[in-house]
Amino acid sequence: MLTNLKEQPKDKILGLMALYREDPRATKIDLGVGVYKDATGVTPVMRAVKAAERRIVEEQTSKAYTGLAGDAGYSTAMRDLLLADSVDPARIAAVATPGGTGAVRQAFELVKQANPNARVFVSNPTWPNHVSILGYLGIEVVKYRYFDTETRAVDFDGMMEDLGDITSGDVVLLHGCCHNPTGANLNLTQWQSVIDLINDKGCLPIIDIAYQGFGDGLEEDAAATRLVASSVPELLIAASCSKNFGIYRERTGLLMAISEKAESTAVTQGNLNHLNRQNFSFPPDHGARVVTTILNDPELKADWMAELEEMRTGMLALRQQLADELQRLSGSDRFGFIAEHRGMFSQIGTTPDLVEKLRADNAIYMVGDSRMNIAGLNAQSVSVLAKAIVDAGI
Ligand code: LMR
Repeated sequence: MLTNLKEQPKDKILGLMALYREDPRATKIDLGVGVYKDATGVTPVMRAVKAAERRIVEEQTSKAYTGLAGDAGYSTAMRDLLLADSVDPARIAAVATPGGTGAVRQAFELVKQANPNARVFVSNPTWPNHVSILGYLGIEVVKYRYFDTETRAVDFDGMMEDLGDITSGDVVLLHGCCHNPTGANLNLTQWQSVIDLINDKGCLPIIDIAYQGFGDGLEEDAAATRLVASSVPELLIAASCSKNFGIYRERTGLLMAISEKAESTAVTQGNLNHLNRQNFSFPPDHGARVVTTILNDPELKADWMAELEEMRTGMLALRQQLADELQRLSGSDRFGFIAEHRGMFSQIGTTPDLVEKLRADNAIYMVGDSRMNIAGLNAQSVSVLAKAIVDAGI
């Protein structure tokens, strides 16, 4: 039977990781997968995470199952981190998931359960796995304009025009902050216009937020999500702890589903639990417990926030250095957008051929859509990258 299987398309981001690993060139620069690296190229275990893990090893007395939704303390801690008091907790159902991807998958499954004919409107471009999972689930994808390849900013007029086609049975997928892959984000006034459109059309928004704390700060990055949560009747939020807690392989995510009325929360929660049970039963616990331990301990939380802030400001400094160096070498301001973008990524807006040329000639690895991971840079590689970009005529 297994001989019936057909080869699956390669995931572009993960395929690039493999190519990078195999490249023998000592000068290679990895700007591919969205993993934070410090100036020495290491993805550190954050101090607070180590401390929380030590505490868990010491104090944990059982590894029996938690619940289908995971540990309730985790959902509460994450809800507070992300939503503060923007929405009545009685309206929120939540389940722990295997990473942010697990939350995205369960969100799409919930949509399918609620309306098998729903179309999901996604930004063009978006994280490729959004489109891939939707295709896998047989959900229709509609792309809305998002990135202006001239200015490398949000094409807001195009976005609103395309979202004009959405209907009450559809879903709009939005990135809460630090848009992946472009790095270009809506301002709060634009978010308000999107909210007005959502309420006007009666469609369901899903917010994918995987980089809280990587853009303008923990609170600032949650502002749009809180604004939406406080302004719409229903909302799904897929959150990830992979990046901001640096616990990628622990698979730690959360799906929150906000119902219009508190009376609906129990049924929504039951559906989320059911989906977990069907797909993997109990969600992973270790990463969630680490996060809960940190968020509930003022000292650990302060240390985590301080380290996250160092990471964030380090990435902002690299953005500025790269923009300055490109300005110096090209004599033009056309790369100023790199300092304006936020989060781990910037899409420089060039062709797959030129991206391939950078890889072949300079051992610089970025995703084929010209997304680069800013955290993959350091003071030395900024100059190498800037020169390669200008030499390639980008
Ligand atoms: C990325 O966009 O690079 C990350 O979210 C990793 C992944 O799973 O694709």
